[in-house]
This record gives sequence, structure tokens and C-alpha cells, in this order.
Amino acid sequence: MTEIESKKDGGGKVEPIHEPEVVGPSEVLREDVLEEYSLSRFQKIVIKSEYGRKRYLVIEPPLDENDIRIINRIKEIIEYKDESIPLDVLKDERLKKKYIEEETERLLEKLKVPRDKWDKVRYYISRDLAGLGKIDAPMHDDFIEDISCSGVGVPVYVWHIRHGYIPTNIVFSSEEELESIVYKLSVLARKMISVANPSIEGILPDGSRVVCNLGMVSLKGPSFTIRKYTRVPLSVADLIKMNTISAQLAAYFWILIENKKSLVVIGEVGAGKTTLSNALLGFIRKSSKIITIEETPEIRLEGYENWSQKITRESIREDVRSIDLFELVKTALRERPDYVIVGEVRGRESYVLFQSIALGHGGLTTLHADDVESAIKRLTSKPLDIPLYLVSLASAFVKVAKIVTERGEVRRRVITVQEVEALKEGEIVFREVFRYIPETDSIEMVGESIVFKKIAAEHGISIDELYEELSNREQFLAYLSRMEDLDWKRFSDLIERYHIEGRRLLEMLRGEGGS
Ligand SMILES: Nc1ncnc2c1ncn2[C@@H]1O[C@H](COP(=O)(O)OP(=O)(O)O)[C@@H](O)[C@H]1O
Ligand SMILES: [Mg+2]
Repeated sequence: MTEIESKKDGGGKVEPIHEPEVVGPSEVLREDVLEEYSLSRFQKIVIKSEYGRKRYLVIEPPLDENDIRIINRIKEIIEYKDESIPLDVLKDERLKKKYIEEETERLLEKLKVPRDKWDKVRYYISRDLAGLGKIDAPMHDDFIEDISCSGVGVPVYVWHIRHGYIPTNIVFSSEEELESIVYKLSVLARKMISVANPSIEGILPDGSRVVCNLGMVSLKGPSFTIRKYTRVPLSVADLIKMNTISAQLAAYFWILIENKKSLVVIGEVGAGKTTLSNALLGFIRKSSKIITIEETPEIRLEGYENWSQKITRESIREDVRSIDLFELVKTALRERPDYVIVGEVRGRESYVLFQSIALGHGGLTTLHADDVESAIKRLTSKPLDIPLYLVSLASAFVKVAKIVTERGEVRRRVITVQEVEALKEGEIVFREVFRYIPETDSIEMVGESIVFKKIAAEHGISIDELYEELSNREQFLAYLSRMEDLDWKRFSDLIERYHIEGRRLLEMLRGEGGS
């Protein structure tokens, strides 16, 4: 793992005693280092504010013309030899890396490269041949979520967790250079990109998603976008801590999920739909049979023994059959699951998913849509084409969004939770139960839950009893969100314990003075 040392604001600067209040040209013209950290011995990141505009700078060892000649020569020899490398070495990332290192070592010796240059040359060779070249640094920077390049001669942009969308000092200066990285990405994603098939979407070996285009589709030449895979799944406790949801909203989700009510999480790409879904799955009882169906393996449910994870398989060979989401959902239903989770609905499979919801299985899915109305529209028109009455069987639609504040801070918040109230005259009537209040940056319960009424009726308890349980669980979750180091698995373990001895746990917490 990369070790990240963070340093605030350009150290050692002496502040004048009387700073002028007004932001004058001197302020605007100042170049400030906002943040600085190292990813490795040869990769340093500096985030600067240049005349009020942020930039992400990758700082690597400087090269003179002679260095560049040496590096290119070694790269040429290794790449030229590539064809004679056994295929199993080429296909295995680790073997390939080792092979490149050994070859470099041999050539440094053979070409009589001065010793003091060795480290630097080794770094660049390995960065370019075993790594992803110019974009290797942001690929290894855990603060970076997205990397995108829209063409030749324009800066690559990154999405930084603390600074949002910012340009970098990485530029591909020729079409060949950019094309070669696009080819490399498509090979890593095991997709064939070509003139006949100039646009691909795939998954890199580390789980990151990539979209690549060759020059024919975009005017500025080839382009690519990488959405990086983040390693640690967030728990509901984390999301409460980050104020993405409130403890009360989390408790509401818990009651719905326990009662196998189904949720559809909507929002834009990168809003946090998958993250929220994965966190909510920690509310499922440990003994439940869970089936998850995805194109990209993103969902992680550690500690669930009765979980079967199904991944669609796209065949690149003609004699091997592709298995699509539709088929997977269909066969999944024969396995009598308690919960069916579809990573993201995109096609025919959504029909079967909603049928399974109709059969009383718990369901959870995400859908790319801006608001509830467009979600319904997407679900009921082609290619999804689900009958409205099936859509109306979902219990609630949850919208999550990425908000960038005036100060450039990035926040992810659940914006609204709307329950399906009724199907009237060919339209679904919604009731908003939770809503985000921007002024206070809080999520408030704004309406009485209809789903709660149904649950109370199903269990033969009064609605007041259910609201009391909501408040108990809210307290319990608020307590969990204040605990240190509560990862996804420990969180779901504690939820299970609550089901077994909730009353005792609550009494203990109250005894401790936890409100
Ligand atoms: N509540 C959150 N707080 C901070 N980061 C988040 C949150 N939710 C998601 N993320 C990060 O945002 C990125 C995109 O999230 P993801 O759930 O994959 O979005 P979506 O499924 O909507 O495209 C991931 O890197 C993830 O770690
Ligand atoms: Mg997603």
C-alpha cells in the first residue's frame, strides 16, 4: 500500500501581521501549495492553487535528453523482444513485471549506463512497461477516484476526494502516445478495441472500470475514462459519520430491509449508489439466502455464508456462451433467495427482478437516474420496459447525490426517500418520507411512512410500537457510528447481535450514558 504523508499549506511561510481584508490582485496571482504528499520514492503529488484554479501535479524525477535516449533504447529492446516472451509470462502481471525488471537490469549493465542513473531509469521503465505510464501515479493515489482524458494536447483530469474535479500536468502530446495507452487499457480489460469496434467498456485487473474510445468517435482523438475501484467497503456507521445518511434514516432502512421491503437507489454516475447499497446490505440477517447479480464484482458481503455472488460473463470466444444478467436473475429465483440484489439494472433482467419483488423476495438495486420521475420513466420504457404495476411494488426510491459546496468540498448525501403510495390512474403516487435540508446539512423525516403502516399490520403491532423501535434502533446506530474502527463486517456482526439481544444491548448503552 502507498504511504501517504500529507502536509498542509506551504510550510515555512511567514504571514504578514496585517493581511488586507480585500482580495486584491496579489491574492489572485498567488500560487499556493494546498497539499503535498508522496506516493512512492519517485512519485510526489502537489496540489496547487494557480491564480485561483486548482491543479494536480505529478512530480517525478527530472530527465535530460541523454536520460530519455537511454530509457527509450531500453524500452525498445524489451518491447521488441516482447514477441519472443512466452505467453504465460505476458499474461501474468507479476511474471511480466519480474521479467521487465530482470531485462532492465541486464541492459543497464550491457549499455554501460552510469550507476547514478540506474534507479531513475528503472523507475521509468517499470512505470511505462509494467504500469500505466503517465497515469501510473494517479492510478496509485488513493485520493483519486476518476481519471479521464478527452484527447491529445489537453490535460488529463482527475477527481480528487478532497478537491473535486481538477486538471493535472499530465498531457498526451501525440495521437500515437494516447492511442498506445488506450490499446494498453483495452488489453488489460480483455476487450478488443479496433477500427471496427472503436469504443469499449471493461474492467481492469484491479476492478477499476474503464471506457476507451479510438479517434473515430471523438474529435480530439482517442479518449478514456477510468473509474477507480476503492478497496474498503463503507459501512452504515461510516455513512452516518460522514453524514451521507442520518442515524434515523439508517434505522428506517434497517426496518424496511429486515421486512424484505425493496429499495431502488437512484442517482448519477459516481453519486454513491453502489456504496450505499453495499452498506445497507449489512442490515440483512446472517442466515438469509442472498443472491447478488452484477456485471462488475463490486458488492462485498463479508461474513455471509449463504451468499451467492453471480457475475455476468461476456464471452470473447464463439464457442463459449455468454451469460447475461437476465439469465442469471432467472436462474437465481429458482434458488429461493430471501434477497435478490442486482448491482445496476440496465436491461431485461430488471423485469425478472421486479417479478421477484412481487413474489415477496427482498430486493435492492441501483439505477442511473436523476430523480424519481425519470427513474420511473426509464424503468417503464425500452429497453427495460417493466409494467408500471410491477414498478409500483417497489417500496421506496432513494436518491443519493454528490454535492460540491461553494468552498469546493465534496459531500455525498441522500437527498430524498420516496415511498410508493399508490398506483392511481396509470401513475405512481409517491410520498416523500425523508428529505435533505441544505441549510442545515441534515436529513429530516418529513412524512409518515406508509410502508411502516404495512409492516405494523403484517406483524399485528401498533404503528406507535414500530416508531418506538425506529427510535431504539436510531439510538443504537448513533452509538455504533461513534465507535472507532468499526468496519463493514463488525458492523453487520453487531446488527446481528441486536436482533438476538437488542433490549439488553440498549440497556447497556443507556447505562453507559450513551444517549
Ligand atoms: N458516502 C460517501 N462518502 C464518501 N465517498 C463515497 C460515498 N459514497 C461513495 N463514495 C465514493 O464515491 C465513488 C463512487 O461511488 P459508487 O458507489 O461506485 O457510485 P455509483 O454506484 O453511484 O456510480 C467511490 O470511489 C466511493 O468510494
Ligand atoms: Mg454503481
